[in-house]
Amino acid sequence: RDGLTTTLFGQSIVFRPTIDSTNNLAQELANNGALEGTLVIADEQEQGRGRRGRNWYSPPRSGVWMSLILRPQLPLAHAPQITLVTAIALAKALTRLTGERAGIKWPNDILFGKKKCCGILTEMSAEFDQIHHLVVGIGINVNVAQADFPKEIQDIATSLRAVKGATLPRAKVVQTVLEELEPLYRQYVENGGFGTLREDWKQMNITLGKEIVAHTAQGTIRGRALDIDEFGVLLVEDQSGEQKKIYSADIMFT
Ligand code: BTN
Repeated sequence: RDGLTTTLFGQSIVFRPTIDSTNNLAQELANNGALEGTLVIADEQEQGRGRRGRNWYSPPRSGVWMSLILRPQLPLAHAPQITLVTAIALAKALTRLTGERAGIKWPNDILFGKKKCCGILTEMSAEFDQIHHLVVGIGINVNVAQADFPKEIQDIATSLRAVKGATLPRAKVVQTVLEELEPLYRQYVENGGFGTLREDWKQMNITLGKEIVAHTAQGTIRGRALDIDEFGVLLVEDQSGEQKKIYSADIMFT
């Protein structure tokens, strides 16, 4: 809490030395009425979760593993945009912290060069077609030593420490992220969605203009990432010149 200048995020903080997943506890607290802005944070996760059922490597005290409870009064259709808004804040925060440019790989990865250092896992709960609450899970490899990453991700993962060449206090990382995210979140709520944040996103992104392969539930799409629309949907020109909308996918650069 010390030194935190936010007025909404982190007013209430739930800390656990060890936990299964901060997203799980945040869901439970949110279902029991926890206030917007409540932050769940742990030193270590034993079952850190990534997107698509993957594991998220969350070793003790070397990263930021946290989840934020949000209660925007918006239609459910706007919920996926919060991941993009969070990505903007993270790219800004991590650039500020390291002095190196962090870029957004649509939808939820923050990369330095080609290596991922941070991921976002947003989970939503709806009441009819309105958002009841969102849990925004953020994992940042802060001081993880390169050799400690599991061998499957050795070549594709990095940490702030590797990028900066020095360790960083995790509290400072948390503080910087919350301070970048809070004003963007307020803007998102006031706009009733992505709105002008789309331009901020474009500035921090490293996806548009690239040749990509997208693995979607409907199949694989290859082509060039052209733009994102006002909902944050990715527009891709496929190999036959046709425009495709990608709502949700894992993408790879080719
Ligand atoms: C991804 O890139 O696949 C998303 C990774 C999200 C990891 C964070 S760490 C804190 C929160 N708790 C979890 O179990 N996952 C998220």
